[in-house]
Amino acid sequence: MKRNPTSMNPRQIELIETSFKAFVPVAYPTAELFYAKLFQISPHLREMFPKDMREQRVKLVETLTYAVNGLRHPEILLPVVRDLGKRHIGFKVRPEHYKLVGAALISAMEQGLGPKFTPEIKLAWQACIAFIASEMIAAAA
Ligand code: HEM
Repeated sequence: MKRNPTSMNPRQIELIETSFKAFVPVAYPTAELFYAKLFQISPHLREMFPKDMREQRVKLVETLTYAVNGLRHPEILLPVVRDLGKRHIGFKVRPEHYKLVGAALISAMEQGLGPKFTPEIKLAWQACIAFIASEMIAAAA
C-alpha cells in the first residue's frame, strides 16, 4: 500500500477539512490571537517579525487555506511547503521555534473555535501542523 506522506489518516484529513469550514469566519481574529499568544509566550520572537503584522496575518490564513486544500494532493503541497521551509532560513527561523508556533496556533484555534474544537479535531490539527513543520525543518536542514 502507498504510504500516506502527510502522516495523517483519512479520518483526520476529513476532520481538518470540516473544521476548517468553521474556522474560515473566525480566521482573521484567530490569526491575531495566534500572534498575540506567540509573542506573549515567546517575546524573543517578536523582533523577527515586521512591526505591522496585518500582512503577516493574511499570509498565515492564505497558507493554512492552501495547506488544508492540499492535504489530498501531497505531491502538489509538499514542494510548496519545502520551499517555504527553505525561505524560513532567511527569516532566521530555527527548528526549535516550530514547537512554539505550533502550540500558539493550537491554543488560538481552541479559543477561536470554542466547543467546535473537539479533542479529536485538536489531535488532527496537531498532526497536520507537525507534518508541515517537519517537512519545513527537513527542507531547511
Ligand atoms: C507551521 C509552519 C509555518 C508556516 C506555514 C509559515 C508560513 C509563513 C509564510 C507563508 C510566510 C510569508 C513569507 C513567505 O511565503 O516566504 C512566513 C514568513 C515568516 N515566518 Fe513563518 N511559517 C511557519 C513557521 C514559522 C516559525 C516557526 C517561525 C519562527 C518564529 C516563523 C517566522 C516567520 C518570519 C519571521 C517570517 C517573515 C516575516 C516578514 O519579515 O515578513 N514562521 N511564514
